[in-house]
Amino acid sequence: MGERPVATTLASELAPDELACLLDEAQKANRGGRFLEIGTAAGGTLCQLINCLPADRRPPIVVVDPMAYFRNQLEAVRTNLTRHGINPDTVDFRVGTSAAAFPRAAAAGEQYDFILVDGAHKSVPVTQDLRWTRLLRPGGVVCFHDYCDAFKGVKWNVDRLVRRHPTYRLEKVVSHLAVVRKLSESPTPEGGTLDLIWAGLLSPLLQWERSYRKRRAGSKGC
Ligand SMILES: C[S@@+](CC[C@H](N)C(=O)[O-])C[C@H]1O[C@@H](n2cnc3c(N)ncnc32)[C@H](O)[C@@H]1O
Repeated sequence: MGERPVATTLASELAPDELACLLDEAQKANRGGRFLEIGTAAGGTLCQLINCLPADRRPPIVVVDPMAYFRNQLEAVRTNLTRHGINPDTVDFRVGTSAAAFPRAAAAGEQYDFILVDGAHKSVPVTQDLRWTRLLRPGGVVCFHDYCDAFKGVKWNVDRLVRRHPTYRLEKVVSHLAVVRKLSESPTPEGGTLDLIWAGLLSPLLQWERSYRKRRAGSKGC
């Protein structure tokens, strides 16, 4: 097995219009509950997210990431935060997949006002990410990055969430960022067993379709 690459950038992976939208939603969602980022890369968006919130009213920030995206990922994120004037010890890092980290958060009764989903983009892991929306307080917002045809695992999950749960509303899409609001508690669990079964069945099909399209277009997608 080859060595993991090093970080190529400490900047946000979001486009400027996506980032502006995300920060605006984050400021509006700051109502005392936790904030969560699933998938942080080098913490570029995380730094912007934290610094857009007033220092005296910053919510607890949770980051869930296996920290194996590149070599010394957690160290790079901590350095990035420090460079942005943020004490990395104020961020609650949970090293692992969102699926592995969820049961403990749920058992602890954690409540969130804002979630950014930007982890693994295949259908099954995104369905697992969706479970965290069970902890989102009504009125809270969940944003999904890479909501576009090139990442059908993301798109399929977001579309299915709002279709199957009228308690969620797709408010806007800015470039490849989807903003979804939770209107009230859902009577059925988000990212449930049936969703996972469908995601698992769909996964090989979407993967095949993606590699076919990439081969034909010779492009990297969105
Ligand atoms: C696209 S990058 C995130 C970019 C970052 N949000 C930004 O805007 O700069 C994807 C991240 O998801 C993480 N990741 C991959 N699988 C994951 C999973 N199952 N749960 C949580 N994070 C995951 C990777 O380690 C990587 O850091």
